[in-house]
Amino acid sequence: MNISITKVDQLKEKTPADQLGFGKVFTDHMFLMDWSSEEGWHDARIVPFGRIDLHPACTALHYGSEIFEGLKAYRTESGEVQLFRPIENIKRMNRSAERLCLPTIPEDMFMEILDTFVGMEQDWTPSEPATSLYIRPFMFGNDETLGVHAVHHALFMIILSPVGTYYKEGLNPVKIMIEDQDVRAVRGGTGEAKCGGNYAASNRAGERAEKQGYSQVLWLDGVEQKYIEEVGAMNVMFKIAGEVVTPMLTGSILPGITRKSCLEILRKEGYKVSERRISVDELDAAMANGTLEEAWGTGTAAVVSPIGELMYKGRKYIVNNNEIGEVTQHLYDTMTGIQWGKIEDSYGWIHKLQ
Ligand code: PLP
Ligand code: COI
Repeated sequence: MNISITKVDQLKEKTPADQLGFGKVFTDHMFLMDWSSEEGWHDARIVPFGRIDLHPACTALHYGSEIFEGLKAYRTESGEVQLFRPIENIKRMNRSAERLCLPTIPEDMFMEILDTFVGMEQDWTPSEPATSLYIRPFMFGNDETLGVHAVHHALFMIILSPVGTYYKEGLNPVKIMIEDQDVRAVRGGTGEAKCGGNYAASNRAGERAEKQGYSQVLWLDGVEQKYIEEVGAMNVMFKIAGEVVTPMLTGSILPGITRKSCLEILRKEGYKVSERRISVDELDAAMANGTLEEAWGTGTAAVVSPIGELMYKGRKYIVNNNEIGEVTQHLYDTMTGIQWGKIEDSYGWIHKLQ
């Protein structure tokens, strides 16, 4: 494919790793590609990072036609830059696109874009421990009319951000509040798509949790508010009485790539694992009778994050003495070991930049 490149006159100074935070610093360039129902995908371009011009009637601004992805580039000890399972993000973005009636992107075209653009900006991949280059592809409808319909014009973009850890706690356990008022998604809705609207609808509960000192909320199902679903930016796993359990994919939670990878690691290594419905009552009982041995979240930004405290209806439970558990630590070490090239990738998950 043809990608036109306009370079900045002057490269920015790189921010020191301890000041990165998450998603605050952006690289020198950005990628854009237009789509229209008449022309399909066209005008792929890499240009200096900066503001974009939108019509005030742009569909995404009114009706939320927006989807995104999140993946990372990692710098190995030998200095190479590599991606983790990018094909999974590409496939998920296309599933999200189908759900939101946005155009899909051919997989090989998407991969070529990632290789070209991340390759060009790879100097921005930091090398300090627990840092990476976060890749944020996103797409939105940009018809310039107010009618409600599947869009005829869309813009696909990628921006890149060198990041440190997502939670200020780093690998220390986070505090999570089980949400019993708002719901995030229902089956048949957009819960399993990675679309901006899901996050907008989550903010009210997130704000309430934060005011009480909790990092994020753990959502319950949208119908009965009875079954555990996922946390704001991660899937969730528990070790209950020796078994690793995680909510099954019912259509209302995001099918996380970190979740899928952790399950594959655990199954390969012979752990007892089950994907099933987990009621909040079961979790409540396991917290009360001490069989809840570990709890953790999984996500690209969050990696593998131990959960040290859960709060439900005003009752607080400390998990594993507020310390990282054995399985959580093992998953963290294995995932980050593969991602940063410290342990051999026997799964075929690593994509070296082409
Ligand atoms: N659930 C939600 C709502 C998320 O935003 C994320 C982050 O992407 C995840 C789960 C974890 O998904 P993944 O492991 O693919 O990053
Ligand atoms: C990711 O982990 O990539 C995410 O998209 C989480 C994000 C909402 C911060």
